[in-house]
Amino acid sequence: MRRKLAAGNWKMNGLSAELDQIDALTASHATPSVDLLLCPPATLVAAAAARVGSHPMMIGGQDCHMEDSGAYTGDVSAPMLADAGAGAVILGHSERRDAHEESDEMVRAKAEAAHRAGLIAVVCLGESLDQREAGQTLDIIGAQLAASVPDAATSDTLVIAYEPIWAIGTGKVPTLEQIAEVHDFIRARLEDRFGTEQASAIRLLYGGSVKPDNASDIFAVSNVDGALVGGASLKAADFSPIIKALE
Ligand code: G3P
Repeated sequence: MRRKLAAGNWKMNGLSAELDQIDALTASHATPSVDLLLCPPATLVAAAAARVGSHPMMIGGQDCHMEDSGAYTGDVSAPMLADAGAGAVILGHSERRDAHEESDEMVRAKAEAAHRAGLIAVVCLGESLDQREAGQTLDIIGAQLAASVPDAATSDTLVIAYEPIWAIGTGKVPTLEQIAEVHDFIRARLEDRFGTEQASAIRLLYGGSVKPDNASDIFAVSNVDGALVGGASLKAADFSPIIKALE
């Protein structure tokens, strides 16, 4: 069945000194029974991968360009991330959809670039508070899922992260019923598109104010296969209990 996944997104946080957090994580979870993924800023990907060494924790990027190379000043390509030691990349995070006006079509093209480079695409979906209050959550999630995920995706190359925008960095968390409703819906839509066997193997993460004190409850929810953690992944002392809750 699906192997659980604890993923950390450092966002635009972290200098070289913070690589010590990786040492603390790999020491505390020497032989993890769940998959671990840490996505530091692009500047630290190569150093983070080197720090991880032979430990099974995977290092990932937080975005990639849809082209493999070219005149795109300041951008990072999927082959560059792979070359630096990444095994995955977060795509379509709401902060990028918002601040960089990334459309579902762009996210899908980036996921295709990630797959060409052999990276797992962690595709983020999520509704705004206005959309939830207007009763549009499932429509929004369904549309994002349909348009952001490549047809050729498989359970080996795709992870979906449900991150309600209003729960990110706010300390507000949906009810467990609300999380279950969306995760069950995503699973059903994946079954329609990829067939039951493939869809049942794709991992669905919840993200948005996951903390040591709410992780166990969230991980007990139907179709939650782990978490994409922001703030609480910055310090091993916070991320480690979340990983333990998943184990
Ligand atoms: O990608 C992780 C994320 O957006 C959640 O952030 O700080 O609410 O855990 P945070």
